[in-house]
Amino acid sequence: MRIAAVIFDLDGVIVSTDEFHYLGWKRMADEEGIPFDRSMNERLRGVSRMESLEIILEKAGRPYTDDEKKELAGRKNNYYRQLLENLSPANILPGVMGLLDGLRQEGVRIAVGSSSRNTPVIIEKIGLFHVFDAIADGNGIVNSKPDPEVFLLAAQKLGVEPARCLVVEDAEAGVIAARAAGMRVVAVGSAANSPQADFSADDLSEVTVSDLADYFIWEPIKG
Ligand code: BG6
Ligand code: MG
Repeated sequence: MRIAAVIFDLDGVIVSTDEFHYLGWKRMADEEGIPFDRSMNERLRGVSRMESLEIILEKAGRPYTDDEKKELAGRKNNYYRQLLENLSPANILPGVMGLLDGLRQEGVRIAVGSSSRNTPVIIEKIGLFHVFDAIADGNGIVNSKPDPEVFLLAAQKLGVEPARCLVVEDAEAGVIAARAAGMRVVAVGSAANSPQADFSADDLSEVTVSDLADYFIWEPIKG
């Protein structure tokens, strides 16, 4: 299939905010006395804020009410937003700018597909707002990854058929979501070597447009 658009996950693919999510949850979990570590954090990649909280609460010593859950998720988000305050273009992950430039030169459309409701503030802070043709994020969807909704929304906003989209993901939930959307997948970081990925790399500094051209055929949509 000919690829006309690439949809990038945000946290852990474009920018190193995946670490800030971990630190925000860790601070909240420590305050509550709930065991939480980096290996448990892997299950939260790509998953919405409230679903992430439910995963953390599996280890809680008592049930939490809905109001308490809202407070815990809000507290984590405040800690996370504090960490985002110093975010700048320096936090863009290695290889991202080169890949975006290369795709632009091929005439391929580019989008963000993220479960995060903080997507607009992050894209603004890293100075990439003008770069993407479309942004689909947690504010515009009901079901987060592994549901395909956010990627289907990105494809719709781009005006490109799902089968002609390629997704770049660092989360297993995101790889599954992309597949469920009928898209091809490049898996990086934690998702590298996922059995459902078409191409894997440790990070995007190892991935150029010409590397990908060995696996995918670029064919821009006209007009
Ligand atoms: C995803 C992250 O991009 O966004 C998840 O991988 C996070 O870890 C999710 O839980 C929701 O983010 P936010 O910013 O809406 O709390
Ligand atoms: Mg991610």
